[in-house]
Amino acid sequence: MILSKLSIGVLASGRGSNLASIIKAVEDGTIQGKIEIVLSDNPKAQALQRAKEAGIPAEAVSRDQFKTKREFETALIRALKERGVELVVLAGFMRLLSPYFIEQFPGRIMNIHPSLLPSFPGLAAQKQALDYGVRYSGCTVHFVDQGMDTGPIILQAVVPVLPTDTEEDLAERILEQEHKLYPKAIALYAEGRLSIEGRRVIIKEGDK
Ligand code: GRF
Repeated sequence: MILSKLSIGVLASGRGSNLASIIKAVEDGTIQGKIEIVLSDNPKAQALQRAKEAGIPAEAVSRDQFKTKREFETALIRALKERGVELVVLAGFMRLLSPYFIEQFPGRIMNIHPSLLPSFPGLAAQKQALDYGVRYSGCTVHFVDQGMDTGPIILQAVVPVLPTDTEEDLAERILEQEHKLYPKAIALYAEGRLSIEGRRVIIKEGDK
């Protein structure tokens, strides 16, 4: 069966290591898609550099260019829609999107979070896990709804927390899994294998 390629738009604010893993998965054919554009609210984001090096259009859209959040989000929406983006991928995008933005892409925005949701949403998830004393943490890919890290869960990976871990050690061990999990979730979406029923994401069996 020949599937048409999924048009992907990525929003990122910083380092862009997840973006790099997605670029690689698109290049090696794991994701049947094309990254049409990478947008960042931070003109200095390494993510923009990584996109350009991979030949992907990349644009900075700073919040302070606009009077209101709505105008800022309108600019993002326009850039994504102009490129025909079907799936919006948040990869370290540090701003909470408003219902106005989310309604433009219903069930078509994904995020990755460095904890096993619903534990430890929000900022510094790895520190939250260490401070709480859990033995296992991990990462979660989920669809975005109007809450903070509350949308339907697509995939999760479990990572042990070691007694000697610093926040950086744990973040690094989780990140290694993020780089496998996010491409996998996007590939499932691109193959049309994900559907949302209430809070649950149903994953259809593959052909193989
Ligand atoms: C990752 O830990 C991701 O889970 C979180 O933000 C971080 C982004 O890292 N949402 P990078 O920019 O992809 O390297």
